[in-house]
Amino acid sequence: MDAEKILVVDDEEAIREAASTMLESRGYCCASVSDGHAAQDYVRKQTPDLVLIDVIMPEMDGFKLLDWLRNYDPEIPVIVLTAVNDIPTALEAIRRGAYDYILKPFEKEQFFHGVGRALQQRRLEVENRNYQQDLEHKVEERTAELRAKHCELEQSYDGTLEALGSALHLKDAETEGHCQRVTAFTISIAKTVPVPIAYLPIMARAAFLHDIGKMAIPGSILRKPGPLDDDEKRIMRAHCEIGYNVLTRIPFLRDAAQIVLAHQEFFDGTGYPRGLQGEAIPLGARIVSIANALDAMISDQPYRRALSMSHAREEIRRCAGTQFDPKIVQVFLCIREQHWVELRENLGSPFRLAQLKNLKT
Ligand SMILES: [Fe+2]
Ligand SMILES: [Fe+2]
Repeated sequence: MDAEKILVVDDEEAIREAASTMLESRGYCCASVSDGHAAQDYVRKQTPDLVLIDVIMPEMDGFKLLDWLRNYDPEIPVIVLTAVNDIPTALEAIRRGAYDYILKPFEKEQFFHGVGRALQQRRLEVENRNYQQDLEHKVEERTAELRAKHCELEQSYDGTLEALGSALHLKDAETEGHCQRVTAFTISIAKTVPVPIAYLPIMARAAFLHDIGKMAIPGSILRKPGPLDDDEKRIMRAHCEIGYNVLTRIPFLRDAAQIVLAHQEFFDGTGYPRGLQGEAIPLGARIVSIANALDAMISDQPYRRALSMSHAREEIRRCAGTQFDPKIVQVFLCIREQHWVELRENLGSPFRLAQLKNLKT
């Protein structure tokens, strides 16, 4: 460890010399100056571990220098040097923040005891400060690590979901890319509404998995080239609840499951499975419902050819207030037609759920 630096400030040369000699005899590194201004210059250039200040000095008295030091660097301890017959001055210095006082002329034992204690105190304070800084640094580091882990975990979850989505395509090849497009459309609308940012990944996962219940629907119904009869309709409609039942068991998808359950509800209460009405339908489901209808209309279906984008937009406008939430339809119609065309054409390959967070609207 380097020798501790002690600054002695006294206008009397004899005192400065006595103090320096004593301090150096104990291995301290000592500097001495004769007035307050010189002391300030010294402290500005290098930080002493302790300052001994004479109270009565011409120009700047010891109190003034003490006040300045407390303000400049409160961690540097100060000991005032006072005459034996001036104890009230010593107490006043302590009241102003001096660590201790030493009586003049110096009595060896009291002198070293005072200096030793002040330096010890200083060491503890510095250690404590370093410990605090170290701790804060460690907390920051750990928080960043945890955040990265959380992100990694979310990405691996999303990877699993992407695989699940592709499994549905194997069964329902006609709707190839449907989940991806509905997800991209959903996020576009959601960002324009706008929904809180934390809700976006929930909505993306819900949109991506909205038809996952179709895994349980027989292929003959999924791919039937004509309209479904009543029984087939009933079976097909079960996909909302099937999807919900699968997803709600996964804590990370619980909120998304609510959207999946409600994605076929109509704003006027004539949808399924629960016939929910208006804002009783989760906001996410009201958005997915428009995105889903848009993609269904602009894609070829087993029972009809694709509609043009403007025709599909017109259809959505027509169904505002019946099938769709009119406020969200308004938002949807504010987005220019070309946006949807480009979005459909430029979906990333391979499709990544995470990339949708950066989607421009
Ligand atoms: Fe559906
Ligand atoms: Fe769908």
